[in-house]
Amino acid sequence: MTSRLTARELTLAYEDRTVVHELDLAIPDGRVTVIVGPNACGKSTTLRALGRLLKPAGGSVLLDGEELAKLPTKRIARSVGLLPQTPVAPEAITVADLVSRGRQPHQAWWKQWSEEDERAVTDAMERTDVAALADRPVDALSGGQRQRVWIAMALAQETELLLLDEPTTYLDISHQVEVLDLVRRLNRLRGRTVVLVLHDLNQAARYADHLVAMKAGRVVAEGPPEKIVTEELVRDVFGLRSVVVPDPVTGSPLVVPGAPWHAGRETEEEAAEAGASAV
Ligand SMILES: Nc1ncnc2c1ncn2[C@@H]1O[C@H](COP(=O)(O)OP(=O)(O)O)[C@@H](O)[C@H]1O
Ligand SMILES: [Mg+2]
Repeated sequence: MTSRLTARELTLAYEDRTVVHELDLAIPDGRVTVIVGPNACGKSTTLRALGRLLKPAGGSVLLDGEELAKLPTKRIARSVGLLPQTPVAPEAITVADLVSRGRQPHQAWWKQWSEEDERAVTDAMERTDVAALADRPVDALSGGQRQRVWIAMALAQETELLLLDEPTTYLDISHQVEVLDLVRRLNRLRGRTVVLVLHDLNQAARYADHLVAMKAGRVVAEGPPEKIVTEELVRDVFGLRSVVVPDPVTGSPLVVPGAPWHAGRETEEEAAEAGASAV
């Protein structure tokens, strides 16, 4: 496995509070990697560091073997596109203008807006189904429409590596599937390397080639979903009793939730029941 983007003993902190601890991670090239884990375990923090939105407190992130912190911003932005969990749009900007900003890393004072830029923007808006909204102000859109516009901006950047933090938030179920299918097509047809943070474990298991499970700022398990998604992992990482069955559509592991699980807090009756439901 080759990996252009890697984290080495990466420690991330806000002020003096460390939230990610000496994380080692290699993002497999040409694959879809999905990061899962409970709220506040450090998924977004990790993703932001991979996109150089956050400076390491220790260790490093390497792009093609070079420390991200030492590379020029534009050089990174031509290779790595990042959609944060809660991006903020400039006031009163239109959809077309926001998506066009995805082309900034490709601009220079000697290079005018080109046909190539125009094509990338049009293509990204069509793929995310926002072309009809082009002249609308971003502020005036619904949460789901706005989310698709942000995805369009990230796509317009046309980077080999794409990092998306919970891109399906605010989307109804059919648009969720549309976005995830789009991500997979970009990967399968255009060879893009994608890293997604998803909060839905079953979507994660469906779309990941490589699944990374985090808990309290550390990687607990990683690998192909069918190898690592087990009842034990779900209990350990999410504190949930569950039954794992094959997804009827894709065959990937499907987690059917049981009850919250707390070590040592089960009654005998509950324990017996949990044992029975795990069979
Ligand atoms: N800008 C910030 N300033 C201070 N603490 C933060 C900030 N962003 C996140 N945190 C804290 O860091 C921890 C990890 O957050 P985050 O990476 O957003 O988790 P996740 O994406 O897994 O839900 C949480 O305890 C969160 O409160
Ligand atoms: Mg998050």
